[in-house]
Amino acid sequence: MTDIHSHILYGVDDGAVTLKESLALLMQCAEQGVDGVICTPHQSGSERRTKLIKDRFAQLCKAAEALPVRLYLGAEIYYYDGMKEALRAGELLTLGGSAYVLVEFSLYGGMTDIPDAVYELSIMGYHPIVAHAERYGYLSREDFFNIRESGGLIQVNAHAFSQRPCRKLLKFLLRNDMLDFVASDCHRAEGRNVDFTAAKAYVRKRFPNQYEKLFGDNGKIFRR
Ligand SMILES: [Fe+2]
Repeated sequence: MTDIHSHILYGVDDGAVTLKESLALLMQCAEQGVDGVICTPHQSGSERRTKLIKDRFAQLCKAAEALPVRLYLGAEIYYYDGMKEALRAGELLTLGGSAYVLVEFSLYGGMTDIPDAVYELSIMGYHPIVAHAERYGYLSREDFFNIRESGGLIQVNAHAFSQRPCRKLLKFLLRNDMLDFVASDCHRAEGRNVDFTAAKAYVRKRFPNQYEKLFGDNGKIFRR
C-alpha cells in the first residue's frame, strides 16, 4: 500500500520536526504494511518552498535507504487563484511527478466551489485528489457526486474512521464507491501518526469488496 498524504518530510511545514522523527514515522509505515510513501508537504501560493522540499527529500531518501519503504515526492497544495498557472509552469509538486495532484480547500467554505475547481484542473489533464474530504462539513452529498463527475478523486484520513461524526460520510462514500484513498495525513510520530488499524478493520468488516482497492497496491497509478 502507498500512503499518498503525509507530512513525513521534516522541517518544511507543520509535520515532522527532525530527521529522527521522519524516520520514526517511516518505521510506523513499515509496521502498518505501507511500502510506499508520498511525502506531501504543504504548498500554497505564497509558500511553495520547492527547492527546500526537494533538498530535504533527497536527504531523507538517503537516510531511509535501509527501510522497506519507497519514497516519492509530492505536495498538498492549498487551492488558490493562480494554482493552474503555477502547475503549468512546474512551480508546484504533483504526486511522484505524475498527473495526480493532492489539493486541499478552505475548511470553512465560501472561498472556492470545490467541484468547479476540480473540473478546471481535470480539463487541464490533471487528476485532482480532494485531500481529507471528511473535513469540509459544508459539502453536501450532491457536491460529492459533482466532484466525482468533474473528474475529482476523494481521499479521507485514516483517523476519520475512529471519529464518530465522520462515520455517516464514510459510509456514504464507500456505499457509492466514491472513496479513492485512505491516507495517514501523518504529522508527528505521536498524535497525528500513522495508524490504519481502525480504517482497515472497518472496511474489512463492512465493505470487504473495497479493501483491496484502498489498502492493496494502490500506488501503481503513480509509478511510471
Ligand atoms: Fe495534510
